[in-house]
Amino acid sequence: MIQAHSISKQYGSKVLFENANVFIGDQTRAAIVGPNGSGKSTLVRLILNQEHPDSGRIIRSQNWELGHLAQELPTLEEGSIFSTVMNFGDRVETLKKTKHALEDAFAKGSQDPKDLEAYEKVFTALERFDEFRIEARAKEILMGMGFKSSDFSRSLSEFSGGWLMRVVFSRILLVEPDLILLDEPTNHLDLETVLWLEQFLKNYPKAMLIISHDTAFLNSLVEEVIEIDQKKIFQYRGNLQAQAIQKQARLEFLQAQYQNQQTKIEQLQEFIDRNRAKASKATQAQSRVKQLEKIKKIELPKTNSTIEFRFPPTPAGGKEVITLKNVKVQFGEKQIFEKLNWTLSKGTKVIVTGVNGAGKTTLLKVLSGQLQPSSGEIKWGHQVQVGYYAQHQSETLDLKKTVLEELEETAPHLPVSQIRGIAGAFLFSGDAVEKKCSVLSGGEKARVALAKLLLVPSNFLILDEPTNHLDKDSRDVLLQALQEYPGTICLVTHDRDFAASLVNCVLEIHLGIQKNEPSQIIPLLGSYEDYLQKKLKEIASQEAKSKNLSLPKVETQKPSIQKNKNGKKNTQEKKQLSLEQEIIKLETKIKELDFLLIEKASSHHSEIAQLMKEREKIQEILQQKEKDWETLLK
Ligand SMILES: Nc1ncnc2c1ncn2[C@@H]1O[C@H](COP(=O)(O)OP(=O)(O)OP(=O)(O)O)[C@@H](O)[C@H]1O
Ligand SMILES: [Mg+2]
Repeated sequence: MIQAHSISKQYGSKVLFENANVFIGDQTRAAIVGPNGSGKSTLVRLILNQEHPDSGRIIRSQNWELGHLAQELPTLEEGSIFSTVMNFGDRVETLKKTKHALEDAFAKGSQDPKDLEAYEKVFTALERFDEFRIEARAKEILMGMGFKSSDFSRSLSEFSGGWLMRVVFSRILLVEPDLILLDEPTNHLDLETVLWLEQFLKNYPKAMLIISHDTAFLNSLVEEVIEIDQKKIFQYRGNLQAQAIQKQARLEFLQAQYQNQQTKIEQLQEFIDRNRAKASKATQAQSRVKQLEKIKKIELPKTNSTIEFRFPPTPAGGKEVITLKNVKVQFGEKQIFEKLNWTLSKGTKVIVTGVNGAGKTTLLKVLSGQLQPSSGEIKWGHQVQVGYYAQHQSETLDLKKTVLEELEETAPHLPVSQIRGIAGAFLFSGDAVEKKCSVLSGGEKARVALAKLLLVPSNFLILDEPTNHLDKDSRDVLLQALQEYPGTICLVTHDRDFAASLVNCVLEIHLGIQKNEPSQIIPLLGSYEDYLQKKLKEIASQEAKSKNLSLPKVETQKPSIQKNKNGKKNTQEKKQLSLEQEIIKLETKIKELDFLLIEKASSHHSEIAQLMKEREKIQEILQQKEKDWETLLK
């Protein structure tokens, strides 16, 4: 159990919260929500005792083990994946020591129920750390996180930041603490892992606090919401939907109270003004003045300020922004793309879609010049100037620099007044520009990264998940600025509404159906909505075709069956025909599932998990059928 009593916290002149109370019980499953920079991550650090409140106190149950996944990646010592996960310091030793101490106390006759409870806890914990069991559990968790058993012995240095986060995460889950505090856990995970995590957390038997902008994820997991709003902390029962209703009711009540108070103040003031000069009523007026002074004024919440910006005028560029010719991208054995041919023309706002792992980020890296293709040619158009926002762009900031220094370095030629102006538009005004990047909140870092994008004029923006870390208001401002941007945009986002109101073109990446088959890109014309509609129709017609077994198979890549000389089909041909029909059906089903996966990207995770599983199963069957078919042809 953790209880925060009347805590206050501020940094410099910025007050995060005042006189706040928070209660976390053994079974609490709560979301922490609030705008960027409101103090969510700070509250977590206070609970962890990594920082202290300026006033008030936080009481913690003894022996409560806490597990924490920070918003940013911690530094890890070099080692293998498995050894890092299995490295939980001197935990086992400490547990053993506590156990012995308690046994000594019992031997001396202690019957304290608290000791008995503690003993039971230590005993269960030691069981969890049992040498054989813990290894099996560690492996299970790592596999759930997406590692293969061949990865276990690989060194940490071979993995990217997102994967290292999974290692840290696995270690927390393995220890099974009494309270886990997760700060934006889904930002670094791909969809499949998010789904796995959601299931895992659903079954997690202990308390949890989760900070996330992912509403579906939160709604499926939490039973309480802790909201930081305008220096106050509110704790609501229920998930986010329930919280929204309660919040509305609270605001309406406050509004009514405010109105009543205003009427009362006006009446008092009027009496005072009318009677102040009258000798007969002077005492009464005086007492009203005192009454008025005593009233504790109700304050209505102010609207939160939001970022405000527009992209600067874009330098004119050639008609063709970029052309890819026979581009091939390969990582080791794995081919991501082969024979990629595509031209992007000026003014297009294109979304790159496709299931997880299809190669969206890779394509964006190629377009921005960050990644050299293995072969082929890339031609950027005349005077094309790229602005690139990578998926984890905010992690590229120099943490030792202040916001102002970071911005100045990007645009050394600009006068400081102009840089300050841009910083202000991104809500870094006054002292805030002097903050070191290391203390910035996740959303604030993302804002600095966006501001940097504005400082260098560009006419081709390449944006990979630019809404990550941003609260809803900032996301809306970004959307508007991009809508007004006259240049060319290439975007990857999971946010369907964001894409639908921005793009005029869709580039779809198809994951190869076979293992190790490279992805293919398919440029489509029209709006994102058109694309969704078109896909639906395509699927419906494909399904009809596959149901109608007598249809000629012009659509498939497989060669159609040759009749034998006398026109009769032998048994082998019949078998072949039936196999081909099954293959078409399975391929259609996979396409249908891929579409549904894109469709449902922003919807409920358990549904997506189901679809993913189904896709995997069908793919396996399909591969087997194709093998059978090939054997038959030999
Ligand atoms: N050590 C520090 N020194 C100065 N300011 C700090 C420090 N730590 C945090 N802050 C400031 O306190 C505010 C709250 O930060 P916090 O990281 O708790 O926000 P958050 O609610 O988690 O935001 P986000 O949604 O962007 O992650 C931010 O304005 C941040 O810059
Ligand atoms: Mg945070």
